[in-house]
Amino acid sequence: MSAALLIHASQLLTLRGDVAPRRGPAMAELAIIEDGAVLIENGKITAIGTTDALRAHSKNTEEIDCHKKVVLPGFVDSHTHPVFAAPRLIDFERRIAGASYEEIAAAGGGIRASIRGVRESSADQLADHVLHAFNEASAYGTTTVEAKSGYGLDIASELKSLEAIQQAAQRWQGTVVPTLLGAHVVPPEFRDNPNDYVRIVCEEMLPAATERKLAEYVDVFCERGAFTPEQSVRILKAATSHGLKTRIHVGQLTQTALELFAEFQPASVDHLDHLSDADIAWLAKSDTVATLLPAANYFLGLSTFPPARKLIDAGAAVALATDYNPGTSPTTSMPFVMSVASTHMKMSPAEAITAATINGACALNLQHKKGSLEPGKDADIAIFDAQDYREIPYWFGVNRCSKTILGGRY
Ligand code: NIG
Ligand code: FE
Repeated sequence: MSAALLIHASQLLTLRGDVAPRRGPAMAELAIIEDGAVLIENGKITAIGTTDALRAHSKNTEEIDCHKKVVLPGFVDSHTHPVFAAPRLIDFERRIAGASYEEIAAAGGGIRASIRGVRESSADQLADHVLHAFNEASAYGTTTVEAKSGYGLDIASELKSLEAIQQAAQRWQGTVVPTLLGAHVVPPEFRDNPNDYVRIVCEEMLPAATERKLAEYVDVFCERGAFTPEQSVRILKAATSHGLKTRIHVGQLTQTALELFAEFQPASVDHLDHLSDADIAWLAKSDTVATLLPAANYFLGLSTFPPARKLIDAGAAVALATDYNPGTSPTTSMPFVMSVASTHMKMSPAEAITAATINGACALNLQHKKGSLEPGKDADIAIFDAQDYREIPYWFGVNRCSKTILGGRY
């Protein structure tokens, strides 16, 4: 692969610093270089600096002019559910007519309404949907995506969902992190004996996914109407015993004490609309990233949002992700999520960028390779048609990303 030199970025947001999640005031430090340049060789970043400095050392390199553009690390979308067959338009209309997420689920909508489409689709068909989502995401500046199964909810359909993710990942230039979310909800056939389903997830589904190397993480939806804290602990125990890493959907509708999960050292806990002061204190001292998904609140028409300010001010490592899914967040746009984070959660544009890059990378344990523009890291770069980084969350509902470089390819 050849070398390339990005030159004349009006602002180069390097986010260089410790290989660790950014907390508190450090979340607002973007380490900006004006008239910046990035040297890319063999898919990696080999130098950053001013245009003058890098040009002096890089002769005969293809130059890409980033005049009047902001250049930053590609976004790391650390929470998506891309394996589904169809949008949930009936749920959408019911909610507009006044029903809540839980009421819709109780009436036969919600996650269970997506099961049939996945069970009846082939892995190839699902992979096409997933690839479409990945391509859409990279058009908005995303270069790494975490992708969950979770709408098949039987062994064959969850494995098929993970295969679809694997297939789509092979056809996309970005980086994909696969997660088994077999414990999304209890499927209808186990309604009367949910613990039997939990046993199948732990003893059959999870070992099968591990054996076929289809998942790096296990996730569980710990929530009223999904899995209890006790069931969630059983699933997370099984995950760690198979050498898989963990992440948890928690606190979306009701509060659950996060400390219950400390022994699993989850890479991330996600949603966090409902948190106690003890939960916030726990997050502040733990390595677990607090991943907020405000596009879901937006799409559900809620007036409340996760307490981003409290979390940042307490010292928790906050990340942002899309939660791309057919029920609560049908968007692949990280800039939109950042816009909602700024307008509704009062995160500054700089904090939102940190949350969408280096802290997202930490939420996937990829901070050594992703999330900042530093020599040695993967050349995953987003270029925005803007002169000031604050424009990224400012312009919303339109796409200002003019180029995305995925592992040095553009
Ligand atoms: O993250 N909370 C659980 N899972 C998704 C919703 C999935 C769905 O409604 O299809 C979420 O919001
Ligand atoms: Fe989710």
